[in-house]
Amino acid sequence: MLHVIKQYAKRITGEVDDALSYEDIEKLIEIPKHEKQGDLAFPCFVLAKKWRKPPQEIAKGLSEKLTDSLFSKIVAVGPYVNAFLHKETVVKYVLEQIIQNGKNYGSWSFGNSKNVVVDFSSPNIAKPFSMGHLRSTVIGNSLAHIAEKCGYKTIRINHLGDWGTQFGKLMVAYKLWGNEQQVKQNPIKELLALYVRFHAEAEKDARLEEEARMWFKKLEDGDEEAYQLWLWFREESLQEFTKIYDLLSVRFDSYHGEAFYNDKMNETVKKLIDLKLLEQSDGAQIVNLKEFNLPPCLIQKSDGATLYATRDLTAAIYRYHHYHFDKAFYIVGQEQSLHFQQVIHVLEKMNYPWAKNISHIPFGFILKDGKKMSTRKGKVVLLEKVIEEAIQLAQKNIEEKNPNLTMKEEVAKMVGVGAIIFHDLKHEKQNNIEFSLGDMLKFEGNTGPYVQYTHARACSILRKAGQLELAKDLTGKIEEESWMIVKQLMLFPSVIEKSFQQHEPSEISKYLIQLSQDFNKYYAHIKILHNDHCLTTRLALVKATTIVLEEGLRLLGIQAPKQM
Ligand code: ARG
Repeated sequence: MLHVIKQYAKRITGEVDDALSYEDIEKLIEIPKHEKQGDLAFPCFVLAKKWRKPPQEIAKGLSEKLTDSLFSKIVAVGPYVNAFLHKETVVKYVLEQIIQNGKNYGSWSFGNSKNVVVDFSSPNIAKPFSMGHLRSTVIGNSLAHIAEKCGYKTIRINHLGDWGTQFGKLMVAYKLWGNEQQVKQNPIKELLALYVRFHAEAEKDARLEEEARMWFKKLEDGDEEAYQLWLWFREESLQEFTKIYDLLSVRFDSYHGEAFYNDKMNETVKKLIDLKLLEQSDGAQIVNLKEFNLPPCLIQKSDGATLYATRDLTAAIYRYHHYHFDKAFYIVGQEQSLHFQQVIHVLEKMNYPWAKNISHIPFGFILKDGKKMSTRKGKVVLLEKVIEEAIQLAQKNIEEKNPNLTMKEEVAKMVGVGAIIFHDLKHEKQNNIEFSLGDMLKFEGNTGPYVQYTHARACSILRKAGQLELAKDLTGKIEEESWMIVKQLMLFPSVIEKSFQQHEPSEISKYLIQLSQDFNKYYAHIKILHNDHCLTTRLALVKATTIVLEEGLRLLGIQAPKQM
């Protein structure tokens, strides 16, 4: 709808003698609920106030002056000026736009190549990659794609949880019950087992906690044995995480995790002292945030140990100096909202003007039987298993439905992974999701594979049609049933903009479902390859649909096989 809205706004601007700017007019334009009333409506209330005339009169006057080849008629409906699109012209215009621009259709340039730092995924070392981290990974990856589509450059950062007291626990557990060979063979599983065992045994024997604190202290003080163990746990874990990122086709520009900031925190603390922001409280060093009605931000414990927040403050400062970001996104579960509010307020108190450009982008929980999953008790679902299962299921589907398909394995991977990613991104991100393997692996209904399948079906129509110069000799003549699809295709750019502004990939997934449904309905009713005077336009419509479906899926981080 975007291009025709712009065109309509342009025409109106020319008729209102500077009473309203083009931008204001564009914002005022509405889409009437009932198509019978028109395709676009411009309300005249604002003009009525300015000109001190009844809006009905203004609407009537404007409707008589406006003409445009994109519109078949422009009429006054009460206080509105309604325009009816000239379908043939619009169809031609939109399809040509899409086919000529290809995957660049829907791109924006308002990002002006400025940097957006996206902090996402960020799992904790020596623990399994949780469903929560999966959410952060797919939402963050998609938001990075969307930001790039809007003209930004992105820096994708995996802020690994590779520091903290849990390493003390792990070291104690490993020294007591661990086995090098076993850890090497199955790092995450073994390390998790050790972690779970530690908590079980520590309930009976409190000395273990004390020991764990001591080992973490050793690590912080640079003890060689502790450091080597830490390094080893980190490497083994990272290798496992990389398998998941490869499966999901997610990449990062930086793996600087919490530990990276160890030698940089002194400076942050010093700056806080210089600015007189640090206060003593129960032996700890804090920044008071009373004026914001927030609990204080803990900077340093009484034993001098720094905290999660200290590392995030330091990381934000480091990132600003390195990347001069225009925006910084943190894709982290809503349970950390307070933490990010605190961090942002402390940065503001440190007089960093860029603090206002930081956004915490929270998302809901993944629940199992309505409850949160907890790593401590070992109640987790191993993500790699879930992904593998999805791929196997996709493979089975292919064997049943299309056994002669070439590149079965690649396609099964795209479909299985697509199912998992789409299952997450079709929900508004703030909603909690009930974990259900069955739902994740569904390939029918509002799912990723359904959109992928629609795309593959459209590709196969084009294959059957053979090579045609699609954007040439388009008449725009096409049957009425195609109109829904054309209107939907027109909306793509504005859907992208909205998904960026609202940090909401689900805008795109919902859009793709709608487009797929429209297309499948059309396919069921119309013989697309029927050789009549509409054929070229029909094929152009199919081609444009494949372009938008593929690009939309790409923005979600999902691939679109040409056959499946
Ligand atoms: N490792 C943290 C966790 O799993 C998430 C880190 C998010 N990023 C950040 N800069 N704090 O809870």
